[in-house]
Amino acid sequence: MAEGEIKPDKGRRTFLKAMMVLSAGIAAAGVLKGAATDIITPFFGISSFPTLTIVDTTGKPITYNSIPVNTPTTWLFNYPLQDEPNFLLNLGDSSGAPVSVGPYDVLIPATGETYSFKGGVGPNNSIVAYSAICQHLGCIPPEIHYYPPGQPVPGTAFSGSSNPGFIHCSCHGSTYDPLKGAKVITGPTSRPLPNTVLSYDQTTGKISAVKVVGPTIYGKPSNLSGGTPFPSNATTTVVTNTGEP
Ligand code: FES
Repeated sequence: MAEGEIKPDKGRRTFLKAMMVLSAGIAAAGVLKGAATDIITPFFGISSFPTLTIVDTTGKPITYNSIPVNTPTTWLFNYPLQDEPNFLLNLGDSSGAPVSVGPYDVLIPATGETYSFKGGVGPNNSIVAYSAICQHLGCIPPEIHYYPPGQPVPGTAFSGSSNPGFIHCSCHGSTYDPLKGAKVITGPTSRPLPNTVLSYDQTTGKISAVKVVGPTIYGKPSNLSGGTPFPSNATTTVVTNTGEP
C-alpha cells in the first residue's frame, strides 16, 4: 500500500493526546487538528541544538543508575523542541545485563545516504536515545514501542531469540534496531529513527541531550524548527508511558 493511502487513525488519536501532554499545552490547537501527514507547524524554532540535561519530574538529573535496563516502561523526553518525544533506553541482553552499543553507519533506504551513529553512553555504553515519532506516518508511543530481547513483538515474526530488542510501530508495522542506530528492519518506513546524541558526565552521572543526527524528525521542516523552543537554561523532563500498543 502506498504511503499516501494509509490513514493512521488510531495513531493519530494517540498522537494528538500525547502531544498535548508532552508539549505542556503549548502547541497550537489549530495545528493539532491536522492529519498525521499534515503536522508541519509554521516555521519557528532555534538556530542551533541546545544542550539539555535530562531530569525527572522533581527536577533531579537522571543518572545512569536510575534508568532500568530493558524497562517495560517507556521513558520519554522532549528534544530538541518542546513537542518532540524521544525514547531514553538503557539497552540490555536477554538476561538483563547492559549491552555496549557500538558505533554504526546507518543507511537511509529512502535516499541511499548513510550517517554515523556514535553508539551508547554511560559506564556500559548502553544508553541511547531516538526520536519516538515513527518515520513512516508519525505515530508515537504507545503505538511505537520498545520490545526488550526475547519479548515477542506483537503481529510480527519476531519472538523469543529472533527479537534482539526492537522498536516496533503497530500502526503499520515499521521496525527499527536500537542497537544499530535505529536502522530500518521492516517497512513501510524507509527512514531510520533520528538519533538524539547524548553526553554523559562521568563525575556527576548526568545525561544530557546535545544534538540530533540522521533523517529529519517526522513532520518537521528541519530538526531545528517547526515547534516550540525550550527557554534558555532549561532542562528536559522524562515522562513515562506505560501504555501498550
Ligand atoms: S506510522 Fe506507520 S508504521 Fe509507524
